[in-house]
Amino acid sequence: MSELRIGDLCPRIPVIQGGMGVGVSLSGLAGAVAAAGGVGVISTAQIGYRDPDFARNPIESNLKAVGAEIKKARELAAGGIIGVNIMVATRRYEDYVRAAAAAGVDLIISGAGLPMTLPELAGSAKIAPIVSSRKALGVIAKHWKKKYDRKPDLVVVEGPLAGGHLGFSKEDIDAYTVTKEKDYDAEIREIIALADELEVPVVVAGGVYEQKDLAHYLAMGAKGVQLATRFVTTRECDASDAYKQAYLDAKKEDIVIVKSPVGMPGRAIHNAFLDKVQAGERFMRGCRQCIITCKPDTAPYCITEALINAVEGNLDEGLIFCGSNAYRADHIETVADIMEEFST
Ligand SMILES: Cc1cc2nc3c(=O)[nH]c(=O)nc-3n(C[C@H](O)[C@H](O)[C@H](O)COP(=O)(O)O)c2cc1C
Repeated sequence: MSELRIGDLCPRIPVIQGGMGVGVSLSGLAGAVAAAGGVGVISTAQIGYRDPDFARNPIESNLKAVGAEIKKARELAAGGIIGVNIMVATRRYEDYVRAAAAAGVDLIISGAGLPMTLPELAGSAKIAPIVSSRKALGVIAKHWKKKYDRKPDLVVVEGPLAGGHLGFSKEDIDAYTVTKEKDYDAEIREIIALADELEVPVVVAGGVYEQKDLAHYLAMGAKGVQLATRFVTTRECDASDAYKQAYLDAKKEDIVIVKSPVGMPGRAIHNAFLDKVQAGERFMRGCRQCIITCKPDTAPYCITEALINAVEGNLDEGLIFCGSNAYRADHIETVADIMEEFST
């Protein structure tokens, strides 16, 4: 049924599993999604956090782990498609892209900034920008055409219901999701119209949770969807059981927009850690060289440390990123369950 063609890559089911840092989507989740007929995506955000040398030399640990995780995912993937998510705002972004390309990854997805140089770094991997507006796609496509005579193999449109850092102002998030004075489907239509002119397939991300969401976006002209939050509460997700339990326990009103120390708004589950930050407590114990827009001298906390605490299950000192639908999970399922639902 899938008409999702990413160059010569054709997943059997038009579902991409969104990259989730830090450590939420590694080889375990990505390999399982790929094996089940979708595109499995490893997040490279602080991917080497379990390396004994990480505290001393985070970037070197991460660059080593990129190839190792891609290799492990391939072993699980049974010939399926493996991608990586590399944020443009990552310190030494270029080196991460080169490491993933050298490891033979199939697809490189890049957002959190405009991936202007991606074509010259990606080798033979397929390349996909993440955009939240037609304007951003227009800027990237024009630059890639002029400088590299290249177009994206895929465009991921990420809307205001997504998890983690969001490419919108707090005001726009509220306008789309609270007051509803703005309609994001209208923006998606504009992006699809431009992508159609360019002959590039679009997948929609942000708030996609069940099969009917896929049907909705296919009817609008998208070729598939990207889901992240739904995959957190799977057996195969690489996060700790405590992290998954936080999703199972969350109620709708627990899901909040936070101002991340790196400057962007993000979506997370409200918890004791956020209360302490709100009360003015500061949690900065050294810098792990993650996002270029962070100012460690003034940041209220280290986002790397907070995300590692969360993924390892130390929730009271952790930032639990999630999408707007995180409250909907009521049991742990398998990747195969989800993929079967989306294949019909
Ligand atoms: C826990 C979590 C971590 C995420 N981390 C990243 C990331 O490191 N880089 C990125 O580009 N997107 C990240 N995202 C966004 C997802 O890749 C995805 O596009 C989005 O969450 C889709 O919306 P959904 O969660 O409603 O399915 C993250 C999302 C979640 C839930």
